[in-house]
Amino acid sequence: MLVNATNMLLKARDGHYAVGQFNINNLEWTKSILLTAQELNSPVILGVSEGAGKYMTGFKTVAAMVKAMDESLGITVPVALHLDHGTYEGAKACVAAGFTSIMFDGSHYDIDENVAKTTELVALAHDHGLSIEAEVGSIGGEEDGVVGMGEIADPAQCAKIAGLGIDFLAAGIGNIHGKYPANWKGLDFDALDKIHASTNNIPLVLHGGTGIPEDMIKKAISLGVSKINVNTECQLSFADATRKYIEAGKDLQGKGFDPRKLLAPGAEAIKATVREKIELFGSANKA
Ligand code: 13P
Repeated sequence: MLVNATNMLLKARDGHYAVGQFNINNLEWTKSILLTAQELNSPVILGVSEGAGKYMTGFKTVAAMVKAMDESLGITVPVALHLDHGTYEGAKACVAAGFTSIMFDGSHYDIDENVAKTTELVALAHDHGLSIEAEVGSIGGEEDGVVGMGEIADPAQCAKIAGLGIDFLAAGIGNIHGKYPANWKGLDFDALDKIHASTNNIPLVLHGGTGIPEDMIKKAISLGVSKINVNTECQLSFADATRKYIEAGKDLQGKGFDPRKLLAPGAEAIKATVREKIELFGSANKA
């Protein structure tokens, strides 16, 4: 069931668990995530970066595929189709394409411009029934060629953006996209505490979910995180399972080269990763 992400995240906040955002790249990714959420009776958010949107030939294609697949698989758990790290133009395009949720990432603008653009997009999103996420303090690491510095968000700026009527807020607390380096200092829980205290209990979003140790995930949820984004970990498990299949020579046996066979181990591996995360985040049986 395609819905916006507002209610599922308010429920998560009040129930002290988090809903996973899993990024999609193609049909296999989408199918694996939807089936696993349904199996675990969990709400889920499908994240689409601008790069992945382009790869899938545009946001309209993505929205049509997700809507049709949600129906044909008989998915009854709440599913939000969400733009990840959207530009101002990308956010508008996703509203028009039929997404149910957008993120506007204005973290690289100065605060006044971030406020102005976020304000405009809040009105547009809400007019069309979509939920909207905004960001303060850029997330470190590299995603789709965008390199963030891993800032710690300023609580006063978070309060300002959270006060614009957005539905959930991404605030940098030392989290980064991709694998964490060996010398990573961990999440800054003092910063998270201050951000939570200054943003009127708005659901908070933790980006860079790949590789964050379980105890830190649980602590972050206890301090107000209600949405956790995972992308790289599904890519790694897909690649690992596909490599094993090819290295075992299975693509050369019988009809093992058939894409439906070749891509099956990777699709199963994504399901296992999503299952593990849904259980860790506590959203199973919360649909
Ligand atoms: P990872 O790729 O580190 O899991 O981060 C995903 C993310 O935050 C998407 O916005």
